[in-house]
Amino acid sequence: MTDAVRILMCAPHHYEVDYVINPWMEGNIHRSSRERAQAEWEQLHQVLETYATIEQIEPQQGWPDMVFTANAGLILGDNVVLSRFFHAERQGEEPYFQQWFESQGYKVHVLPKSLPFEGAGDALLDRSGRWLWAGYGFRSELDSHPYLAKWLDVEVLSLRLVDRRFYHLDTCFCPLTDGYLLYYPGAFDTYSNRLIELRVPPEKRIAIDEVDAVNFACNSVNIDRIVVMNKASDSLKQMLTDRGFTPLETPLGEFLKAGGAAKCLTLRVNEPHQESPQTSTVQNRTIQIEGHLLDSGLVNQVLDTIVAGGGSFQVANFQLGAQRLDTSVAQVKVSAPDSTVMADIMGQLIDLGATTISEDTIAANLVAVTQAGVAPDDFYATTIYPTEVSIDGEWLKVQGQRMDGAIAVANTPSGKIVRCKLLRDLQLGESVVVGSEGIRTKRNTTTIKKAATEEFSFMGAGVSSERRVELVVEQIAWDLRRIRDRGGKVVVVAGPVVIHTGGSEHLNRLIRDGYVHALLGGNAIAVHDIEQSLMGTSLGVDMQRGTSVHGGHRHHLKAINTIRRCGSIANAVEQGILTSGVMYECVKHQVPFSLAGSIRDDGPLPDTKMDLIEAQADYARLIEGSDLILMLSSMLHSIGVGNMTPAGVKMVCVDINPAVVTKLSDRGSIESIGVVTDVGLFLSLLIQQLNKLTGQYDRV
Ligand code: ARG
Repeated sequence: MTDAVRILMCAPHHYEVDYVINPWMEGNIHRSSRERAQAEWEQLHQVLETYATIEQIEPQQGWPDMVFTANAGLILGDNVVLSRFFHAERQGEEPYFQQWFESQGYKVHVLPKSLPFEGAGDALLDRSGRWLWAGYGFRSELDSHPYLAKWLDVEVLSLRLVDRRFYHLDTCFCPLTDGYLLYYPGAFDTYSNRLIELRVPPEKRIAIDEVDAVNFACNSVNIDRIVVMNKASDSLKQMLTDRGFTPLETPLGEFLKAGGAAKCLTLRVNEPHQESPQTSTVQNRTIQIEGHLLDSGLVNQVLDTIVAGGGSFQVANFQLGAQRLDTSVAQVKVSAPDSTVMADIMGQLIDLGATTISEDTIAANLVAVTQAGVAPDDFYATTIYPTEVSIDGEWLKVQGQRMDGAIAVANTPSGKIVRCKLLRDLQLGESVVVGSEGIRTKRNTTTIKKAATEEFSFMGAGVSSERRVELVVEQIAWDLRRIRDRGGKVVVVAGPVVIHTGGSEHLNRLIRDGYVHALLGGNAIAVHDIEQSLMGTSLGVDMQRGTSVHGGHRHHLKAINTIRRCGSIANAVEQGILTSGVMYECVKHQVPFSLAGSIRDDGPLPDTKMDLIEAQADYARLIEGSDLILMLSSMLHSIGVGNMTPAGVKMVCVDINPAVVTKLSDRGSIESIGVVTDVGLFLSLLIQQLNKLTGQYDRV
């Protein structure tokens, strides 16, 4: 049966490393010897002749890589898909190969222009002809795969190559007789490795290591039980023999200089073909993005997201705004190897504000909640950005926007209610939006632009210099003043450091002057504030003199005990026991506060909510409708609050630790300002600035 195998080769009369189109060619220009190449090629020819009939195509002057006939096209039965080379350096080979295929009576299929595909170098049949493995990522375009499926009537499994050294599928992947597979897993992305593992059972997989891989061991010609290759390690040879194969080495070093070896030098012209349903799981979607695309860097972000997610793209249309302030529109065709990868990419693109072009016809997918507090597997996880979902032909706005929730849809007598809900709050009778269809988010690219150019340049330096702190404080004071005067809402999130650093008197002023409309924190800030007010110390340190007080370590416990006796902070104020401090001011000025407990809390104070679900709900209630959130040195509570806050709310995060500030700014909110400084100092500057403003106002 082996004599039925026919292979096309091309003698290396004009072979040469003339240019660089893969990493192997680097540094090898004109470094190959034609005589040695000729000798190596002849030896390969001789070895193969024993097992197959070798056909030859006339080599052509000026096309040195034509020896690599694997790249001529892909043959299956009477059909051949002609290659469309990615690099101009090889495109001139196409007509010669086309001629040869036509002269042999094949039906030649030609891919659309600008859709690269490099033939059998990037597409390898399962040796029983059950399906076709097709590579993409460097030379062949993912979008060529559906054509292969259609023209060759075969199932196509797309594999993504990620290592430049293994730029063609046949450099790192070699299906063998009886369903075996010789391959180098490191050349593929995670998803492709998973696909390989799904199709090829473990006992049939021969995974090689890098040393064999760079010797082009995967670039083998397999005929029946023979495996012809450049070179293999002893252990690889052993593995092959153990599985009933005979490895035959024939040195091809001269061709390695051009990035090819045994398999590249051959094209099998009669491939086994089993009838199989022609399918390709490759998916396509066209998305649109709009806004200040160039300034904001959004286009890059979108394209990076597609590629990093395992897909590929084509920019279909890009209308640049005529003036600097005009917005631009881009349409991008996204391709992915299958629907899972597509859903993943689309989910991320939607979060970037992309809309699907055919959005009006695509409805959001809803799945009923079958267990209270648990979402269906594929639920869409929400972001901080305003979101809409398409239900019954209408775009409905999601209420209660926050990140890390699910979108719940409830039917009520007055219509559908679409809400962002935490997973634990989902109820039977509701449905949840799954997948990424029929969802759109609105991102304000103007703000992205502004943030990128102004606020973050301030952040850019990492630690802010004093003058910069002053500048940013001026801006915040201005904002606070305006928000207060128009009846807006400011929420302060504060950690105990505010008290330790002497910030308490300033925070008191802010509360008294009506700048604070809710206070959020933990047990500690209240405890230390009360300790200071009752005993003049904060965690046992005298706040006037800055030294530890004898027996001071008990002070905070005494403070807790006193409040516990009163029943609540408010009672202590009412009974005239607590007469100053942050908590006192809150009670006096009816500023609602919420204290969320934690595992390390002493006491706790009777006001501290140790039920965290309750505490989260309380925080969420107090944040609602806020215009600005001032986060003062509390990593835990600030991040908690950040997670609940929708885009559009200004966040000012002050911390001496740059990592905390960065973490908060990185959550994707573009309206956040980070200030790396001592919080006591910050508050003092802020009060000074507000005083100045008041002076100005008063004068007017
Ligand atoms: N220099 C050629 C190129 O980069 C080598 C082709 C190797 N062929 C292959 N099927 N891997 O195109």
